[in-house]
Amino acid sequence: MNFDPIVIDPSACYRLMVNSITPRPIAWISSLSQTGVLNLAPYSFFTVASCNPPVLSVTQVNPRDRAAKDTLTNLRATGECVVNIVSENLAAIMNASCGDYPPDVSEFVALGIESATSHQVRAAGVKEANVRFECKLREILEVSSLPMGGHMMLLDVVNIYVNEAVLVDGQIAPHLIDTVGKLGGDWYSTTHERFEMQRPDVKNILK
Ligand SMILES: Cc1cc2nc3c(=O)[nH]c(=O)nc-3n(C[C@H](O)[C@H](O)[C@H](O)COP(=O)(O)O)c2cc1C
Repeated sequence: MNFDPIVIDPSACYRLMVNSITPRPIAWISSLSQTGVLNLAPYSFFTVASCNPPVLSVTQVNPRDRAAKDTLTNLRATGECVVNIVSENLAAIMNASCGDYPPDVSEFVALGIESATSHQVRAAGVKEANVRFECKLREILEVSSLPMGGHMMLLDVVNIYVNEAVLVDGQIAPHLIDTVGKLGGDWYSTTHERFEMQRPDVKNILK
């Protein structure tokens, strides 16, 4: 079966993408508003854009009812945020933070989430997060201004906090960081089952 994106509606495109591009890591983003409200929201259209320099990419799917979500508005206003990584013990509270809270309500206060002072940005992070990427806005790429279109936020990483409890021999261990992934609909995945594969040595395959 083939789908022509010109023919099907944007919601159908969205479902095809979020149900197949899985599991997606979750950026749980804290940011300060112009008036100092500490916002927190999850974004799973999230990946690494560059390691040298370290840059993260997060995409806002444009809302239908307003110009922008609070995270993008805050990034435009203050240019800073923290990308908190979501371990399984934080999944329920992360999900609670995606509700449509008014811009003058801090999800930290509404949900009783403890914050942690950042080192290089004014926005605080989530204290319980095992990894926190402190970021400064590099660029906003408007892919489309249409409803359900995308604004890609490119974020320069200026400090990385890692909880020493998730380190083994100085490296972040997958079983300790215990991240969750986003699937389509309301589904999530854990990382309890893992398997390892060595990268191929093409010399052996082509001989
Ligand atoms: C796990 C999860 C992942 C999400 N990923 C995205 C995303 O990548 N892009 C987006 O625009 N909204 C995403 N949402 C919805 C936003 O979190 C939601 O619109 C939220 O209210 C935005 O908050 P803000 O206005 O404080 O930025 C996601 C929600 C959940 C629960």
